[in-house]
Amino acid sequence: MENREQRPSRRSFMKSAVAAGTAYGAFSILGTTAKGAGKKIKVGLVGCGGRGSGAVMQHMTAAKVLNDKLNMGIEIEVVALADFDQGRCGRVGKRLKVPQDRWFGGAKGYHKLLDLKPDIMLTAAPPVFRPVHFKAAIEAGCHVFMEKPVAVDAAGVRTIMEAGKLAEKKGLFVVAGTQRRHQQGYNQTAQEIQEGAYGRVMAGRVAWNMGRIFHNNPMNPSKPEDLCRGGNWQLWVEMSGDHICEQHVHNLDVANWYIGTHPDNAGGFGHRVLRKAGNMYDFFSADLEYKVDGRSVYVHSMCRQVGNCWNWVGEQFTYEKSKPKDFKLSKPVCYSEIPQMGGGHQQEHINLLYYMMKGKYLNEAQSVAEATGTAILARDAAFTGQRLRWDDLFVKPSKKNPELFNKQLKPTALDFETGNIAYPKDGDIYHPGKKA
Ligand SMILES: NC(=O)c1ccc[n+]([C@@H]2O[C@H](COP(=O)([O-])OP(=O)(O)OC[C@H]3O[C@@H](n4cnc5c(N)ncnc54)[C@H](O)[C@@H]3O)[C@@H](O)[C@H]2O)c1
Repeated sequence: MENREQRPSRRSFMKSAVAAGTAYGAFSILGTTAKGAGKKIKVGLVGCGGRGSGAVMQHMTAAKVLNDKLNMGIEIEVVALADFDQGRCGRVGKRLKVPQDRWFGGAKGYHKLLDLKPDIMLTAAPPVFRPVHFKAAIEAGCHVFMEKPVAVDAAGVRTIMEAGKLAEKKGLFVVAGTQRRHQQGYNQTAQEIQEGAYGRVMAGRVAWNMGRIFHNNPMNPSKPEDLCRGGNWQLWVEMSGDHICEQHVHNLDVANWYIGTHPDNAGGFGHRVLRKAGNMYDFFSADLEYKVDGRSVYVHSMCRQVGNCWNWVGEQFTYEKSKPKDFKLSKPVCYSEIPQMGGGHQQEHINLLYYMMKGKYLNEAQSVAEATGTAILARDAAFTGQRLRWDDLFVKPSKKNPELFNKQLKPTALDFETGNIAYPKDGDIYHPGKKA
């Protein structure tokens, strides 16, 4: 049986049940409790491009929805903005009346933003920066909303996992931009799988196949802004993780969620035919092998940015059986008690604020790290032409190829802070079989 909807799997179900189910009686917001009078929330936004500007407005709307429908009395104050290109703070800054001396530019701007001690940091800078921004926010005691993907290499994925555990110890809330986890249809299917409506997940296919969105003029980067400034980052593996990581992560997240774990190993291929700028591939195809209760579940992952081709963005799974006509869930679908409005991008902020106000703990760092790690596993399998094991990238270095574990793409996020930047070259791509 096939189902286009979205469903989680047993092991990740257990994880999200733990993450989302713990009741935190009191967590600190402005030195009082979330359930008490202190409902003024100071927000800082890092990365004021398309998604960052959208996310901060959705955060404001989320408070309004909860105030209007549930009288929660939340007051959001956007206290600071940071963007590599300070001018990009203007659009949000003027609209939300953030004083101009709190628009921080450059790669170190987020330090100044965190010095102002916001309660929540929203971060939508390019993916390469996510691990350092997230870790710094958690160390500073901030709750976080972070966009996907959350890293571009194995080291970055592990940083997110570790900082996510620290967040849990500190009781800090974390929501990620893998918005399918906040859509009722996906949650309903996830819960149906968990409660056995379809039997076991047997196999799947997930895809982000779309038309071309890349620039076609070579860039020859020589200044940090050639890599960082709005849009340019989308051309470089070192900045975005490639489009398998940047876009297809959403579909891979659903596979992990519904199967209940991350893949054990992956093999794959891809290539670049059309692009002239940057160093990304045009397409990837990967075979992911999950190990579930001693059996293998295979998922075909596909993504492509080429025009005039078959396009499909979605997830399909084959199950052991059809859902019985009289099947009923034993409990309400996750988040269904919360006012629903405006799709996943809006709902993730409503759910974050609702859970914070109710003191119900929520931390999506591990799931979004695993989704990003799945993309990196499949990508690196394509880049190297080898079948790669999850553990060799994310658990411990293998004797045969420790580079898979230790690999950190350059320039790193910190290189932008020191100015010591190794510039990638247009068209310098990975050649399977030639270059690890
Ligand atoms: N969840 C979703 O569906 C969704 C949709 C779109 C984008 N995204 C994600 O959001 C992120 C941002 O994407 P976008 O479309 O807004 O890109 P964008 O290019 O419009 O914005 C990125 C912004 O980050 C700034 N920036 C670059 N380096 C920075 C640094 N070191 N510190 C602070 N700011 C820095 C850029 O100047 C730019 O203003 C990406 O990770 C992308 O994958 C998610």
